[in-house]
This record gives sequence, C-alpha cells and structure tokens, in this order.
Amino acid sequence: MTAMLSITGITKRFPARRGLLDMIRGRPQLAVHAVEQVSLDVHKGETLGIVGESGCGKSTLARCVVRLHDPDAGAITFDGTDVLSLKGPARRSFNRRVQMVFQDPYGSLNPRMTVGDTLAEALHVHAIVPKPAIPARVRELLDLVHLPADAALRHPHEFSGGQRQRIGIARALAVEPQLIIADEPVSALDVSVQAAIVNLFMELQDRLGLTLVFITHDLRLVRHMTHRVAVMYLGRIVEIGPTAELFATPRHPYTQALIRAVPMVKPGRRGSEAAVIGELPSPLNPPPGCAFHPRCRIADVACRETIPPLHPAPWPVACLKANG
Ligand SMILES: Nc1ncnc2c1ncn2[C@@H]1O[C@H](COP(=O)(O)OP(=O)(O)OP(=O)(O)O)[C@@H](O)[C@H]1O
Ligand SMILES: [Mg+2]
Repeated sequence: MTAMLSITGITKRFPARRGLLDMIRGRPQLAVHAVEQVSLDVHKGETLGIVGESGCGKSTLARCVVRLHDPDAGAITFDGTDVLSLKGPARRSFNRRVQMVFQDPYGSLNPRMTVGDTLAEALHVHAIVPKPAIPARVRELLDLVHLPADAALRHPHEFSGGQRQRIGIARALAVEPQLIIADEPVSALDVSVQAAIVNLFMELQDRLGLTLVFITHDLRLVRHMTHRVAVMYLGRIVEIGPTAELFATPRHPYTQALIRAVPMVKPGRRGSEAAVIGELPSPLNPPPGCAFHPRCRIADVACRETIPPLHPAPWPVACLKANG
C-alpha cells in the first residue's frame, strides 16, 4: 500500500499560561506537551482510527496536518510533497485535497446561508464543476449523504444534529478531497444517531474509495469501521495496528485497559471496570520514561527511565514489556 499521508516525528508544544506570581518568582515557562514525536502513515483508501483519552493530542495532531497549527518539529508529506513548506496556490490546493469534519458542523456552516448555497459556494470557489452544473451537483451531494433534495433550500438551524453532520460531510465532499480527517464527528450526537453517521462514513468510504482518518475517544466506534487503529497516550502513539488483530490481542497495557473497559454487548456483562486506573497525568509535566508507567500494572524500574521506542513486530507498540 502507498502512503498518501506520511507524518514523521511531529512534535507540538504550547506555552502554558503563567500567572503573575509565577513570573515574579521567576518560575520557568512550562509547555503543554500536546504531541510528542508522532510518526504514522495513512494509506490510500484506508480508514485509520486515532483513539485516546481526552487531551492526549488527537486534535492537535490533526490540526498540524491541515496546518491550523505549525508543529515545532517533524515532517509531513502528502502524495510525496512536503506539506509544511507549501505556499500560495499549492497550499490552497492542499487545503482542498485534505478536508476536516468537526464535532460541531454548526461552527463551520454559515447560519445565514441555505445549505444549497453553502455547497454551491464550495463548488464555485474551488471550480469543481462548471457553473451550470452546480445545482445538479448540489443534489448529488445531498443524495450522497441521504438528505432530501429540498434540504438545499433550508438553513442549518432547521436541521437536527445528525442531519447537520450530514451537511458538514457533504460540504467536505463537495471539493472532492483525497483525504478526510473527521475529528470526533459523532461525539456530540445521541448514540442512535452516532451509528447512522458511522454507517454513512463506512458507506462513503466504500462507494468513493475515500481515505479517512477517524478521530475519537470512543473505542467502540472504530472497531467496525476502521482498517487500522492508532492509540495515543499523552501526545504519543503507543500502539498502531490492524483493527481486528489489535482488538483481539492488544499489545500495550494501555490499549488492553481501554479494550477491557469497553462495555460488553452481552447482558449481565456490562463493562464495570474503570477504563484505566488513576488519572491522566498533566501534559505540562509528563512522567519520565514511559508516560503510562504510573498507571501501568506491569511497569518496572526500566519503564520509569526509558521512553520505549515503537517496536515494529507484529505491529508497532511502544512498551518495553511487550517487546520482550
Ligand atoms: N491552542 C492551545 N493552546 C494551549 N494548549 C492547547 C491548545 N490546544 C490544545 N492544547 C492542549 O494540548 C493537549 C492536547 O489537546 P488536544 O485538543 O489535541 O487533545 P484531544 O486528544 O483532541 O482531546 P479531546 O478528546 O478532548 O478532543 C491538551 O492538554 C490541551 O489542553
Ligand atoms: Mg480533540
């Protein structure tokens, strides 16, 4: 498989807010370690899930890819071109080819424009189809996300959350992207609606051969819809592997704990176990060595000292114990 998107050693830190007292006392400026040395490839035509607890850096990583953030270190290539040095028309073309879908599509939809006008504008600005063909293309896009044709005449506030997410997806698809990065696209929706949107992503992936990165803190969502899953913990990828195998035999203690905590479908076996013991440490001051060691059941002295490299076989995992 060819890597469409290649991320190498991406690191992003944010300066932490410092109070006046900290400054007077000369306390050093701290940084939030949002993303640390993340490397991963996204293959053409695959769906890659990125999972991890809130604050582990999923959105920051996505925002670095689409250049809403400038990473402090690392490289990103898309279709062989260096993304971080793109300028002018090349950068605009990249921003069309890689589209993001957000948790709340309301924020990215103009409330004063009808859905049809929003889609038509995207088609027009990026010259996707000739002007006379725009109305037909708008109908096609609505059909693709299973919205009725008359949705074009209505405004975003007239739709439910799930329908609005369909509009957000249609808006992203309008510009014919090669890659869609969906950041928690169903987290704000009712569970029943979540399934419908997840199914829509699967259907689109299948019909259009989309390449999709699906970011979520909910492991259950990625189980049936992704080909591979990357698990992040405190800014780092701790495990990345084929979904079915990773769910069957998770290698990292953190992934194991996450999977154990996923509620069982069988009655009487609802996941009562806490996801992971203890609290997520502060990204301002991540633990030394393996950042997971304070919460890990099998950590020993070495884990407190050595940052585990991603050990490749049978799929990459960053754990000194899983390597042995
Ligand atoms: N613009 C910013 N300025 C300062 N700190 C930030 C900024 N964006 C993110 N952070 C911090 O970086 C860390 C990673 O945040 P990020 O939003 O990437 O996590 P996430 O995995 O997407 O979480 P969630 O599941 O809640 O969306 C957090 O500690 C967050 O507070
Ligand atoms: Mg996020």
